[in-house]
Amino acid sequence: MSQKLAFITGASNGIGFEIAKMFAKNHYDVVAVARNPEKLEHACEELRRYGGQVHAFPADLSHYDEIERLKKRVDDAGLVIDALIINAGQGLGGRFIGGTELAKELQLIRLNVDAYVHLSKLFLPDMIARGEGQVLMTSSVSGTAPIPFEAIYGATKAFVNSFFWAIRNELKGTGLKMTLLMPGATETNFFKNAGQADTTVGAKQKTNPAEVAERAWYALMSGHEYVYGDDEAEWEGDILNRMQGESQKAQRHRIISEPGSATKKSS
Ligand SMILES: NC(=O)c1ccc[n+]([C@@H]2O[C@H](COP(=O)([O-])OP(=O)(O)OC[C@H]3O[C@@H](n4cnc5c(N)ncnc54)[C@H](OP(=O)(O)O)[C@@H]3O)[C@@H](O)[C@H]2O)c1
Repeated sequence: MSQKLAFITGASNGIGFEIAKMFAKNHYDVVAVARNPEKLEHACEELRRYGGQVHAFPADLSHYDEIERLKKRVDDAGLVIDALIINAGQGLGGRFIGGTELAKELQLIRLNVDAYVHLSKLFLPDMIARGEGQVLMTSSVSGTAPIPFEAIYGATKAFVNSFFWAIRNELKGTGLKMTLLMPGATETNFFKNAGQADTTVGAKQKTNPAEVAERAWYALMSGHEYVYGDDEAEWEGDILNRMQGESQKAQRHRIISEPGSATKKSS
């Protein structure tokens, strides 16, 4: 009997890998996407232990052409996607003027924004035509506030939130279930890769990505509109960030995201 299929970006590590495990455990085949082919294959070997088919499709999603090639590869293989999980994203810490590099910021926007739009544009029409399927987009609690010293990252996640809510509304009645995942600080490679290991948020104890993935899975399967990665993120996103103004939220966040804040007092 053929199984359902989940397409998951960023499936070789962290939250995406744990989400892939949830699908594999629950008898879905998986198309796993990430850049590094060796790491991806290693993750896929682990996913295959659950018994389903797992396809490793390496791609750098910050490149337009690679996303086009990915879609062609899925179609050429005759794969029909039941669950679309757009999750791959990166962070970038540092002072906007005098700290971060423009080239890295523009690349971040290509991955965290352009790829979300591009993948949605390419993969949603087939799902809509079939009148069923699930869509999970990984955003962040950072999408609900301005984030000093992660200015571009926070803005990309605010984009994803707005984009998600708008298309979810447009797609009412199509049969698709769509859920927005907003993790808080989670124990993955994210902060180290973003150059934020020396910040208070980067150094603090974080949520296990398996717990975030479990929340995401149940929210998606039961048709919830959105879910946070943990209770702290829920408090921050649904209570604190709705009560405070943008300036207050930015000031509150700089204390934990300022470079060096793990070891010194904020300015
Ligand atoms: N960790 C947190 O605290 C946190 C909090 C809120 C939101 N999030 C969001 O959660 C999502 C997953 O992050 P994570 O924490 O699980 O990070 P992670 O551990 O660094 O994993 C990121 C995954 O995405 C892949 N990836 C990175 N750049 C890519 C690219 N250009 N093209 C294709 N794949 C790429 C990585 O593999 P390769 O490096 O091999 O490509 C890896 O599989 C992101 O959207 C992030 O913004 C994370």
